[in-house]
Amino acid sequence: MTRHLLSIDDLDAAGIEEIFETAAEMHDVQRRAVKKLPALRGRTVINLFFEDSTRTRSSFEIAGKWLSADVINLSAKGSSASKGESLRDTVLTVTAMGIDGLVVRHSASGAAHQISQWVDVPVINAGDGMHEHPTQALLDAYTLTRRLGSLEGRHVVLVGDLTHSRVFRSNIKSLLKLGATVTVVAPPTLMPAGIGDWSKSVGFDLSYDLDSVLPTADAVMMLRVQRERMSGGYFPTAREYTVGYGLTRDRLSLLGPDTPILHPGPMNRGLEISADAADAVGRSVVLDQVSAGVAVRMSVLYHLLTGEESA
Ligand code: NCD
Repeated sequence: MTRHLLSIDDLDAAGIEEIFETAAEMHDVQRRAVKKLPALRGRTVINLFFEDSTRTRSSFEIAGKWLSADVINLSAKGSSASKGESLRDTVLTVTAMGIDGLVVRHSASGAAHQISQWVDVPVINAGDGMHEHPTQALLDAYTLTRRLGSLEGRHVVLVGDLTHSRVFRSNIKSLLKLGATVTVVAPPTLMPAGIGDWSKSVGFDLSYDLDSVLPTADAVMMLRVQRERMSGGYFPTAREYTVGYGLTRDRLSLLGPDTPILHPGPMNRGLEISADAADAVGRSVVLDQVSAGVAVRMSVLYHLLTGEESA
């Protein structure tokens, strides 16, 4: 495994499987009364978050703590970044304190990569603009393999605001590496520019018709409509979006009874996903994703910070 995790491109299928194997062991720790492993004792990890986050930041924090690392959270609000300090100065300042790893979220695509050029500690990309979110894709695929077994030949359908989604970009790469067949569904206005060529060159399908795709899905992942990244009108009304592309109660009947429903969160209930789908017992794996997030991030921190091949 490389020293940084900036993109799913940093991993091959064997590297992903290795992360999953360690994550499965870490997952068992979650069920214990005392959840500490000594693996990262004496090491310090900084979570540097320049964008809002609930699950990613807290699960990286929990993951580090359960491995006995010291974890410090820094967010743009409340740090000197809000006083005009440059990204480079902020990063060099925190690394000069003698830290062992940096988890970074930033609104600019490429930020984590840029930061990795400035520092000599492992950098983990926790979401860079509309580019990638590799640990999210790893926890999604891990959740899927726990439900479906091998993803080889399984049909995974990703639906929603693809244009603004780093989760989609990382997931395409990881799902294809693990042998899944992928269809992405979105209204034409939320299909990223150039996706036709990309889909042909790496091998996934595009559709504008959710109802025709759902019956063949082995899993469906709903992606959030990212209104904070939208400047204009990408669809006429919320109601029209839901009618065309939401996982409504009616559409649930197009899915197999055991087909897992994923969403990385935060969910816009009533927009891209109905409460019936989000809370569907035995089908919605949204909270399994959250729980897997801690285990997968423990695994990633362990491999990157210790340089060990396996736990
Ligand atoms: C995603 C993100 O931040 O990219 N959320 C997450 O990390 N759980 C997806 C989103 O914001 O919609």
